[in-house]
Amino acid sequence: MTSTSADGEVVGVHGVSVMRSGNLLLDGIDWRVGAGERWVLLGPNGSGKTTLVSVAATYLWPSRGSVSVLGRALGTVDVRELRRHIGIVSASLEARVPPGLTALDVVVAGATGATAPWWDRPDRATKDRAAEMLDLVGCAALRDRRFELLSSGERQRVQIARALILGPALLLLDEPAAGLDLGGREQLAVLLARLNAQPDLAATVVVTHHVEEIAPGTTHALILRSGRVVAAGPVAETVTSAVLTLAFGLPLHVTRVGDRFAAQATGSAR
Ligand SMILES: Nc1ncnc2c1ncn2[C@@H]1O[C@H](COP(=O)(O)OP(=O)(O)OP(=O)(O)O)[C@@H](O)[C@H]1O
Ligand SMILES: [Mg+2]
Repeated sequence: MTSTSADGEVVGVHGVSVMRSGNLLLDGIDWRVGAGERWVLLGPNGSGKTTLVSVAATYLWPSRGSVSVLGRALGTVDVRELRRHIGIVSASLEARVPPGLTALDVVVAGATGATAPWWDRPDRATKDRAAEMLDLVGCAALRDRRFELLSSGERQRVQIARALILGPALLLLDEPAAGLDLGGREQLAVLLARLNAQPDLAATVVVTHHVEEIAPGTTHALILRSGRVVAAGPVAETVTSAVLTLAFGLPLHVTRVGDRFAAQATGSAR
């Protein structure tokens, strides 16, 4: 399987709307993620970020529009095969990890796309690969610790190791920095910057609420509000005071120092 379509498209979302229980969660979204691009997805609570990531992850079917992932049009392919090439980190996945598993178990389970390695005893190669992934995210020492007892930051890293075990072409991280302290956030930014530099990853998409969490190496940004695209494009042109002021509904001033961003409110909220 090729990791992208002939024109280098990793994710293609065309005119996508998602309607659930009478609510329009996404409203006519167009979004193209090209090979080599590293995206950040920003927007207020409820703007549709998780919904859009679920569409790209092939877990949510749009009510209107078309979606292609890794060169395959959804609706015409076996999504189970496609999902082997998509690594996902999300709070809902973490919540499905049953208690009692070690960090290594959680990573091993990623080799089959499950949340627990119930079905059989993993072979040596899978365990070795899982240990390698834990090492990659700086968690080698945690391999035999129980996942549910790890700190939020440690759990996020273990989840990233899990998402990487099959060598995905597309990596989708939904709020990987949620609940992390300043040190954890900065360590995660370093890890994401390293992943951003990995040529094997055709594309990455990271959802966040905070511009401070945008990792070095991020190339593009998509800003959502109320299920619609406010702006999309190269990160420097998209993560701006004007765009974020529009998206978050209060006057915001965005600054950029090197390859990192910061934002502050400049007046009272409307
Ligand atoms: N199954 C559903 N039925 C109806 N509404 C839903 C459903 N799932 C999500 N929503 C609504 O869709 C909107 C978008 O949700 P989504 O989780 O995509 O937002 P988000 O941008 O990820 O928000 P957050 O930043 O809080 O994670 C929200 O208003 C949410 O309440
Ligand atoms: Mg969300």
